[in-house]
Amino acid sequence: MTPGGTDGPDVISETNFGFVADLLRRETAMLCERGKEYLVEARLLPLARQAGDPDVDHYVDRLRRDAGERARAVDALTINETSWFRDLAPYQAFVDDVLPRLLAARVDTRRLTIWSAACSSGQEAYSLAMLLDEHLPAGWTARIHATDVSPTMVERVRAGRYSQVEMNRGMPATRLVKYFQRVGSEWEVQPQLRTMVTTQVMNLAAPLPPLPTFDVVLLRNVLIYFDHATKQSILDRVQATIAEDGFLMLGSTETTLDLETTWTRESAGPAGRVVLHRPRHGRAVSRPFPDSSSPAASPHLTLRTGA
Ligand SMILES: C[S@@+](CC[C@H](N)C(=O)[O-])C[C@H]1O[C@@H](n2cnc3c(N)ncnc32)[C@H](O)[C@@H]1O
Repeated sequence: MTPGGTDGPDVISETNFGFVADLLRRETAMLCERGKEYLVEARLLPLARQAGDPDVDHYVDRLRRDAGERARAVDALTINETSWFRDLAPYQAFVDDVLPRLLAARVDTRRLTIWSAACSSGQEAYSLAMLLDEHLPAGWTARIHATDVSPTMVERVRAGRYSQVEMNRGMPATRLVKYFQRVGSEWEVQPQLRTMVTTQVMNLAAPLPPLPTFDVVLLRNVLIYFDHATKQSILDRVQATIAEDGFLMLGSTETTLDLETTWTRESAGPAGRVVLHRPRHGRAVSRPFPDSSSPAASPHLTLRTGA
């Protein structure tokens, strides 16, 4: 195909590209601007072939009349780039700055509740689980709630299996040996980590379902896909889920500086390069984590442990 072009036989038409971009924005708030035709082609062509369509334009015609296929297309169009201990410094800040303060503040409950919002295939959630396994004192428990708009990604977190190529992206050999077992050509996360992680399909751009109060929220490398108003509204709603003395961690290129926010910012981590966001006006009410074994406790929640 001609990158960004609309004139070749293999290139999605401008109208159909507009339809897909509108669909993605409506369903996830992700922006898909002109110039991303190559991405849409690459993601939708396999689905077109599976559906028996000769090209993506015919497949988009199918999308116009088939809601189930639209959901599959949206899932396939999400950008799930991630890695273990991504950017390293935020994880160092978590261990050196965030954890000691939470351990002092939660001595009564000895329980930590963390949200990996927009978790992709789970490397963020399981990286945290490893650090908690290594640094939580005996008698403490931790729950990491991993959510994403993509059902395929959430299923991957639940399965906890990764290819060698994925393991090569940031997993130190010592932790590979300690926390994974080989299953065929893949690596599977050990049960001691999987029991810490619950999963849920969740759209950050829609009203949030009932959630517990979180001590830490990781909302990393997802705000970059949204427009200004969507970022603002997601940050406001996420703030309502964070404990008054809790923490929000964004991606290294993401900031609240250009938004009207009620967050305060603190420097942390190596050379103070990591920004920790703290809610300025604690609006969260302390609520326990819903029991994952009884999803009937909330009609909106389908929590599953990874084990
Ligand atoms: C680039 S990945 C980031 C993964 C991880 N947080 C990290 O930093 O490595 C972005 C993720 O955001 C998810 N996403 C996109 N729009 C979303 C939305 N509206 N609600 C929830 N997740 C969304 C995508 O499915 C994708 O898995």
